[in-house]
Amino acid sequence: MVKYRIAWLPGDGVGVDVLEAAKIVLDRLALDAEYPHGDIGWEFWCAEGDALPSRTVDLLNNVDAALFGAITSKPVKAAAAELAPALRDKGLTYRSPIVRMRQMFDLYICLRPCTAYPGNPLNFREGINLVVFRENTEDLYSGVEFAPVPRELADTLRRLAKPFGPFATLPLDQYAISCKINTRAGSERIVRAAFEFARKFKRRKVTVVHKANVVRATDGLFLEAAKAVARDYPEIQLDDANIDAMTMWLLKNPFNYDILVAPNLYGDIISDLCAQMVGGLGFGCSGNIGEKLAVFEPTHGSAPKYAGQFKVNPIATILAVKMMLDWLGEADRAATLDGAVAEVIREGRIRTYDMGGSHTTLEMGQAIAAKL
Ligand code: IPM
Ligand code: MG
Repeated sequence: MVKYRIAWLPGDGVGVDVLEAAKIVLDRLALDAEYPHGDIGWEFWCAEGDALPSRTVDLLNNVDAALFGAITSKPVKAAAAELAPALRDKGLTYRSPIVRMRQMFDLYICLRPCTAYPGNPLNFREGINLVVFRENTEDLYSGVEFAPVPRELADTLRRLAKPFGPFATLPLDQYAISCKINTRAGSERIVRAAFEFARKFKRRKVTVVHKANVVRATDGLFLEAAKAVARDYPEIQLDDANIDAMTMWLLKNPFNYDILVAPNLYGDIISDLCAQMVGGLGFGCSGNIGEKLAVFEPTHGSAPKYAGQFKVNPIATILAVKMMLDWLGEADRAATLDGAVAEVIREGRIRTYDMGGSHTTLEMGQAIAAKL
């Protein structure tokens, strides 16, 4: 019996490339684990009408953690057009498998540390060390959407919401509705996760990112929940900012911030900005964390044009492996891996194209493994 079972989900595009580099590192770390493969990605949508087949869901129910590469996503109509002929016109709709996994397994924490490794030529500033906590199951990602809008819904909205007036006279296929749903419990638990992290790692401040001045119901609730939770952590400063202003201030004064916590969509946006400040998507790693399961991934997409070229930077994925090791309780291995990544970056001898070099995905993986 091995100690850990880790679902291996390369997905498609460059997801396959970067997971190969991750495997080099994991083998070198000699983790006592097995890595059962899971089918996921665009090819399963096209061939089976499901990018996250139920056999993969079964697998995820029987592992300790998962490592996920990347998946191609396309808008609903474009996706439908690529279905196998026998599956067309059956009412199948494409939904991003990573979003589905987050909801299906209640992976409510999206943890995105953004650390400027010394000497990375892509650092916006040296010394940046931000951590984003993104709520991962609710908000505009709830999946409750209507296009066209059902008559019943339009009638109800006209009755209940005065500002709906101008929309009420439109033909039902001339507008669309996406629901932003935020719960008190969901808001509180992500904020609590951020504060717990702050306490554990002795960080000074948690900034809530929102737009409560305009989106008053849902973001108002999120902010209120944050204030309530913050009372349990008197030693940590609570700060808040509107998402728009936040993007400017982050660039202007990145050292004013420490830990950020946000509802799903703002967290999606702000975490890309933070990743860019520490080297871009080649450095953005992500943990989708629930009570029973956690899925780790690079935040970059599948970049189909680079697929199979072994060109992209695997550091984001290798940092996701580091997060996974921490989550599994393998703190020593995680720290060793972090040190190896830092050393390779500092030395600057091995660099992928995004860093101004010409080394391949696997050469980067090997360089990091060699430091272990
Ligand atoms: C991310 C990605 C996903 C998201 C996409 C691929 C659905 O942008 O993980 O940040 O929007 O959450
Ligand atoms: Mg994103």
